[in-house]
Amino acid sequence: MNIQALLVERFQKAMIDIGAPADAPAPLTRSTKAGFGDYQFNGAMALAKSLKQKPRDIAEKLVEAVDVNDVAEKLEVAGPGFINIHLSAQWLAKQVEQTLADERLNVDTQTTQTMVVDYSSPNLAKEMHVGHLRSTIIGDSVAKVLEFMGHTVLRQNHMGDWGTQFGMLLAHLNDKLAHDEVAETALSDLEDFYREAKVRFDNEDGFADRARDYVVKLQGGDTDCLALWQQFIDVSITHSQDVYDKLGVSLTREHVMGESAYNPDLPSVISDLKDKGLLVEDQGAQVVFIDELADKEGKPAAYILQKSGGGYLYSTTDQAAIRYRREKLGATRTLIFTDARQALHFKQTELVARKADFIADNEVYQHCPFGMMLGKDGKPFKTRSGGTVKLVELLDEAIERAEKLISERDSDISDEERQDIAVKVGISAVKYADLSKNRTTDYIFDWDTMLSFEGNTAPYLQYAYTRVKSIFRKANVDIEAINADVVIAESQEKALAVKLLQYQEPIMQVASDATPHVLCTYIYELASLFMSFYEACPILKDGIDAEVRDSRLMLAALTAKTLKSGLDLLGIDTMEKM
Ligand code: ARG
Repeated sequence: MNIQALLVERFQKAMIDIGAPADAPAPLTRSTKAGFGDYQFNGAMALAKSLKQKPRDIAEKLVEAVDVNDVAEKLEVAGPGFINIHLSAQWLAKQVEQTLADERLNVDTQTTQTMVVDYSSPNLAKEMHVGHLRSTIIGDSVAKVLEFMGHTVLRQNHMGDWGTQFGMLLAHLNDKLAHDEVAETALSDLEDFYREAKVRFDNEDGFADRARDYVVKLQGGDTDCLALWQQFIDVSITHSQDVYDKLGVSLTREHVMGESAYNPDLPSVISDLKDKGLLVEDQGAQVVFIDELADKEGKPAAYILQKSGGGYLYSTTDQAAIRYRREKLGATRTLIFTDARQALHFKQTELVARKADFIADNEVYQHCPFGMMLGKDGKPFKTRSGGTVKLVELLDEAIERAEKLISERDSDISDEERQDIAVKVGISAVKYADLSKNRTTDYIFDWDTMLSFEGNTAPYLQYAYTRVKSIFRKANVDIEAINADVVIAESQEKALAVKLLQYQEPIMQVASDATPHVLCTYIYELASLFMSFYEACPILKDGIDAEVRDSRLMLAALTAKTLKSGLDLLGIDTMEKM
């Protein structure tokens, strides 16, 4: 159920009735100030010209014409021609009852589509870094939201598992294995491994040549070399999987579709583009010139698909991936999560793929960029000594910090429970800090803020959830079984009910814009409204009528379910106590 859509529909009808053109916009927003109703319709002003009437008069006519008797208890014209809509308490009460009885909390499904969500996608020639952390966390939440909306979501971990960097790594791995080491130990610390290989590449006589030999052998399909490469990839993927498991994201090995998987398709990408007359040979390389992205002098952008030596590039693989996802996976929409520095690449990739008909007009290719993760000093996030931060260590630190924090609070939980809660709070804090910011901006990683029990943080929301749940424990009422009439009398009850019934709005927005922060903001506002409601409208106090108590318990039950549902979609754990 979508209140917004319902009201828009009713107003559109009224607009036609008073003579407005059929395509006139029907802007409806949520009222931001108390006393101005719950929603505001702002369409009268724009109609003044075509109807040759004063906006206020049009607004008056709309109020007469619109059929919202069931939904609204009052409409009032304000200012130059706004219409403030006060939703009906009775209607809201009925909706709360229905929503609580519905497993999907009355969120409608969309016309279902098959979608690819391409996220995490680390480069295996390097340790996974904080940029991939953002992609992993944000991508996972968007994938969950799309699934909740009824879509078939295919997760694709487009790992960077191919390329010239592997020559140096394989040469080094070969030597280590020759010294009787097994791959798991040789690669137990990938960071160290890369560093050693790089040092040898830069300093050791003959090593760079051997590294280049390995590249040639690898690309030529040499069996021994491929076996070595496979060992490297297997251990690397295991390292990534450790991070996914710690993070509690839904990625598994079966979602890995690395760059190498497209190797057999690359020659046909080139021939396809040639056949379509898009490729031009330029200094021995195969290039598509993109007029739409010309520079100031009018020189079109060059999108290279094959180097003069015959080597393929990141762009070639992406074209192959687009074809595969459409033809083999049947995807009609693709969302890709990488940092904003790749925005131009994806813009070019999309333009070329559309020209080549690899993407049809009605299909969507959506690059979802995000900003950088910065340290408290505003510089790119690094360890104290300036090194890259290892993700596993970062997550362990989060758990440690959460445990300390929880020990400081007095409660009756056992050591074992505390450890479990520390994991849930620590990991969630890191995830939520990332999810709750508008993804396109850089964000500052700050332990103290993300672990605070106040403000828009995971601990605050997890705590809010346990508080609602504890009311039911104290009342000795089964939250699953409660069924009573809802009566909305106090303003805090109404504010909470309206918010609860708006759950679909942020979800739809996340599904279209891939912006989980919209859902975070909603959950945070919901939790805050619940706290105000609980303060003003006691539930278990002596002297509260049974009907009032039960009605408020219904509101509390729907709050708990909505918080839980929203936090689940964000990948944030909830618990009964903390
Ligand atoms: N491996 C790339 C990186 O780390 C991200 C890949 C994103 N997906 C894609 N289809 N290009 O930057």
